[in-house]
Amino acid sequence: MKHLITLTEFIIDRQVEVKGATGELSRLLNDIGIAAKFVNREINKAGLADILGYEGTDNVQGEAQKKLDVYANNQFINALRAGGQCAAIASEENDEIIILDNPVSNKAKYVVAIDPLDGSSNIEANVSIGTVFSIYRRITDNGLANVSDLLQPGTKIVAAGYVIYGSSTMLVYSTGHGVNGFTLDPSVGLFILSHPDIRYPAAGNIYSVNESNYIHFPEGVKEYINYCHVDDPATKRPYITRYIGSMVADIHRNLLLGGIFLYPGTKKNPKGKLRLLYECKPIAFIAEQAGGKATDGKRRILDIHPDSVHQRSPFYAGPSYMVEKVETFLVNTSET
Ligand code: AHG
Ligand code: MN
Ligand code: MN
Repeated sequence: MKHLITLTEFIIDRQVEVKGATGELSRLLNDIGIAAKFVNREINKAGLADILGYEGTDNVQGEAQKKLDVYANNQFINALRAGGQCAAIASEENDEIIILDNPVSNKAKYVVAIDPLDGSSNIEANVSIGTVFSIYRRITDNGLANVSDLLQPGTKIVAAGYVIYGSSTMLVYSTGHGVNGFTLDPSVGLFILSHPDIRYPAAGNIYSVNESNYIHFPEGVKEYINYCHVDDPATKRPYITRYIGSMVADIHRNLLLGGIFLYPGTKKNPKGKLRLLYECKPIAFIAEQAGGKATDGKRRILDIHPDSVHQRSPFYAGPSYMVEKVETFLVNTSET
């Protein structure tokens, strides 16, 4: 029988690649993998148990929280608290960062930014949803962490990835040495290496954007979408439209099949919808590690210094040549 490599084995084997790693990062990644399995279990039975629908509360952005949003958030926070490798967490579902104050966490080297459940509007429809995570080395000394530990540019990411709860459940992550994907075998409860060294295909022909916002998009984005529609077999156009509405699922498909994901600003929301810290930056890290690019239309996402935990950013991610193409339509405009 072929030797199967589990996520836990892989994390330990690759630990030497991370400068200064002493095993704590491995344990932290492993804890995220375990929490993801609990979230996966709950998602799988969502249609059976009384866990669908709204929790009756709003998150900081005024969005109604679904029960699974709350479940996933608690699951990841509890895993990170119990694991002791994390000093603070920034989550989409919490207004303020969560500072883990106990003797073990106070000495922890890492902090985590997380979108516990991405694409939650798709839960009821049995459509793929996800989790997005990123890990930074804290900049404060031992003791209580603070928000400065989380407001670091993406160039400081130590590890990042996502979980996609789809027709199969996968965990995809990178520590800055390529991207690897693991598929959950539900019969044994193990993530198994199934997609080693994921790279964007050389040529793509998918574009993913919520085109119902077309009329409100910056002129450059409208022109790019028109470009996608042009009949030109040499450049594989017209491109194919694919849009799920769960960023993780749209990004994952485009990573495997070759495509660009766009969430531009609009007149009403110039910074778009997606959150820089726990949605754009981790996905940008993965996109770059897979040989692609991620920008806000002008600037590299990983270079942006965040000012606040929940700030938003226009977002373009995909194979480098596709992202560079959309940028050519945005050079003469301040809107992205
Ligand atoms: P979340 O469920 O974490 O709030 O994220 C939803 C996001 C993202 O997953 C997706 O790309 C985007 O919302 C879809 O937005 P539109 O419905 O505006 O297209
Ligand atoms: Mn999200
Ligand atoms: Mn979310």
